[in-house]
Amino acid sequence: MVRITYNLDFILSRLDNIDVLVLRAIEGLMGKFEFVPIEFIESRVRFSSSSLSKALHKLLDFRLVSRRVGDYTGYGLTFKGLDTLAYHYLKSNGYVAMLGEKIGVGKEGEVFLGEAPSGEFIVVKFHRGGFSGFRRIRRFRSYSIDAQHSWLELAKLTGEREFRVLSDLYKIGCRVPKPIAWNRHAVVQEYIDGIDLYKVGSLDASIASKILDSIIEDIKIAYQKVRVVHGDLSEYNIMIVESSWDAYIIDWPQYAYRDDELAESLLRRDVEYILRFFKKKFGVSRDVESTIRIIKGEYS
Ligand SMILES: Nc1ncnc2c1ncn2[C@@H]1O[C@H](COP(=O)(O)OP(=O)(O)OP(=O)(O)O)[C@@H](O)[C@H]1O
Ligand SMILES: [Mg+2]
Repeated sequence: MVRITYNLDFILSRLDNIDVLVLRAIEGLMGKFEFVPIEFIESRVRFSSSSLSKALHKLLDFRLVSRRVGDYTGYGLTFKGLDTLAYHYLKSNGYVAMLGEKIGVGKEGEVFLGEAPSGEFIVVKFHRGGFSGFRRIRRFRSYSIDAQHSWLELAKLTGEREFRVLSDLYKIGCRVPKPIAWNRHAVVQEYIDGIDLYKVGSLDASIASKILDSIIEDIKIAYQKVRVVHGDLSEYNIMIVESSWDAYIIDWPQYAYRDDELAESLLRRDVEYILRFFKKKFGVSRDVESTIRIIKGEYS
């Protein structure tokens, strides 16, 4: 059983339907206001003002919303509030039974170990705002993102991006965590019982070479069949299962499509980082140019 360190399960156990409805109403109005005036919340949920005020107090106590006082009183959703809404959805739809310890925290997300109703371990990743390369992607019409996008929309978009690309990659046979569900900025995925590549100790050159081959093969499948480039590949975004030496490429939200004008330089950078790491750490050498040609299918 997972060890509980983040209190979303506790928070959910303390919230009534009214509290969740009020939280959702605030979320729904965040596109219009940084802090939603209380009258707007009131007219959306139509509870008596005493029930509403009780709910708002509870949400404030748990820090799911923050309050602005001044010329008007308004409430804004916090990241913890957004986590709570996403987790409420995932739990009530049977994707997650319980959230456990935090296994990763980066600039762009918080990653938790969790348990599915079946008892299996799973991973829940809550995105925090954008992703590296977001400004680059903003320039492409397909995402029609502009400077007006709030942290909330950005975080949700990032979750959606990661879930969709994982689904496409997984379907085609790339070794990535199997995506299970997604809601708002939260992505539920298969738990990889392995360690980050940068933590792997010394390795036999033939094993290291096989691992590198399989990583290059996955970059090639992603490039040729899904037409994407990871864009942030390094020893920090690859996990190794030590019992089989299988390598999984994780952390995809900043991927770029092949026809993106920067895809070429991102692919080159991904390949250079990985080859440099394998050379330095395991003494396995490969040529950058020929590896790129293999990935592009210019020869095999
Ligand atoms: N599916 C998974 N199974 C097991 N562990 C995982 C999984 N996904 C992520 N992790 C762990 O959590 C860490 C952070 O995950 P990830 O790289 O996806 O998030 P991140 O927010 O982008 O972090 P960073 O900004 O540090 O790159 C990983 O290095 C890994 O140790
Ligand atoms: Mg990462």
